Amino acid sequence: MNKISLKLGFWFLVVMLLMEVFLLYFLHKNIVITQIEKELSALQARGNNHRDVLEESYSPETLQHISLMELSGEMDVIVTDNNQNIIISSSKLDPVEEKILSYDLKNVPRNGKVIEQRWRDKKYISTVTPYSINANEKGYVYMFQNTNQVQEIITNLNHHFIVAAVITGIFLILTILFLTKVLTTPLIRMKKATEKLSKGDFSVHLPKMGKDELGDLSQSIKILANDLKYLKEERNEFLASISHELRTPLTYIKGYADVARRKNLIDKERDQYLEIIYEESEKLSVMIKDLFNLAKIDRNSFVIDRINVQLCFFFHSLYEKVLPAFKEKGVELELICKENVIVRIDPIRFEQILLNLLNNALKYSEPHTTTSISVKREKGKVRIEIKDEGSGIPKEDVPFIFERFYRVEKSRSRDSGGTGLGLSIVKELIESHEGNIEVKSEPGKGSTFIISIEEETE
Ligand SMILES: Nc1ncnc2c1ncn2[C@@H]1O[C@H](COP(=O)(O)OP(=O)(O)OP(=O)(O)O)[C@@H](O)[C@H]1O
Ligand SMILES: [Mg+2]
Repeated sequence: MNKISLKLGFWFLVVMLLMEVFLLYFLHKNIVITQIEKELSALQARGNNHRDVLEESYSPETLQHISLMELSGEMDVIVTDNNQNIIISSSKLDPVEEKILSYDLKNVPRNGKVIEQRWRDKKYISTVTPYSINANEKGYVYMFQNTNQVQEIITNLNHHFIVAAVITGIFLILTILFLTKVLTTPLIRMKKATEKLSKGDFSVHLPKMGKDELGDLSQSIKILANDLKYLKEERNEFLASISHELRTPLTYIKGYADVARRKNLIDKERDQYLEIIYEESEKLSVMIKDLFNLAKIDRNSFVIDRINVQLCFFFHSLYEKVLPAFKEKGVELELICKENVIVRIDPIRFEQILLNLLNNALKYSEPHTTTSISVKREKGKVRIEIKDEGSGIPKEDVPFIFERFYRVEKSRSRDSGGTGLGLSIVKELIESHEGNIEVKSEPGKGSTFIISIEEETE
């Protein structure tokens, strides 16, 4: 037994028992009252009956006859005159009956009345009915009934009630045991599962449950376990990639520093090595900056400050900014933005997105190709396309290019450069703008990155 089933079971039992006792008590009381009333009115009816016979033909024979009628059986009859002197009685009087006979009789209605109904502690219940033949001959017909029989009936009734109470009690306890088990077993399983989770064991097995709240809870725990497992794996992978990525430039730095330290080196060579060291350190610091950004986005401590921006203005100034780099490599850059579109973006972050995409386009393009930026309205959204005629991305790599550290060119040679963080930052930033990014690419022909974001209309 565990705490929750004890608690549930206990309260359920208490409430149900109270209800049972309450119900049985009132039922019992009602049955007893009805039974006694029945007995009393039968007694009174019998008295009235005797009175009718007596009034019809009042004679010693009739009196005899009446007393004979009650000779056997549970009832006794006593006929008295107006002063309660006994004229005839069906059995020998006992003191209790005598006492009842001496009760003061005032205003007895013609149909009689009950004069003793305390069945529980008196030996008899009793009724009296007045009769009158003429002015002189008046009197009363007393009826008595021994309470033994009533008491016996009630005792029997009590037995039945006790048996019923015990049986329902047992059923109640069984039902409670069953219900608490049904209710609490899944809860306890889930508790164990979450304990396992908190200890870092993500292999949670919970049986399938119904479509009720418990089922939902168990489902949520399963999802949570999977998420945690995924996160843990992702973190391990991420750490492995980071250390790997850091090692490459560091190897260069260390190697070239070692060479540059040699005494018999001509200045030109030394400068060259120092230049490489500088570049690699630069790369390292860029990478660390990127990682830092990603961590910030992940922690949600990344504030994006969205304002309404006229998209074409934004692109024109961006165009001016990147054009020299494109010119230098001999790649043509085109901007098509005619519509007057307003979007709600954080201009600094959005520039970061586009610089990343344009950098990629430039990096993976050969001279004498064209890269174009176009802005269009489409179905209430704004569609921004960055299209290059570069190397393209192999089909099997496309699903992964937004992952951290993913690069098509796996060798980390010094010239092919990047760390593979650019697009993962782009994706996170776009998502924090509630936008969407997808890519279409054909190896050898080029790639198109398509951003869609909500247009601001007010
Ligand atoms: N326009 C493109 N044309 C061809 N391949 C691309 C293009 N953009 C991205 N890729 C491929 O996707 C990979 C991931 O791009 P991402 O921008 O994340 O990394 P990176 O450019 O290698 O490094 P970083 O941007 O961090 O300096 C790239 O290594 C490249 O193989
Ligand atoms: Mg890049």
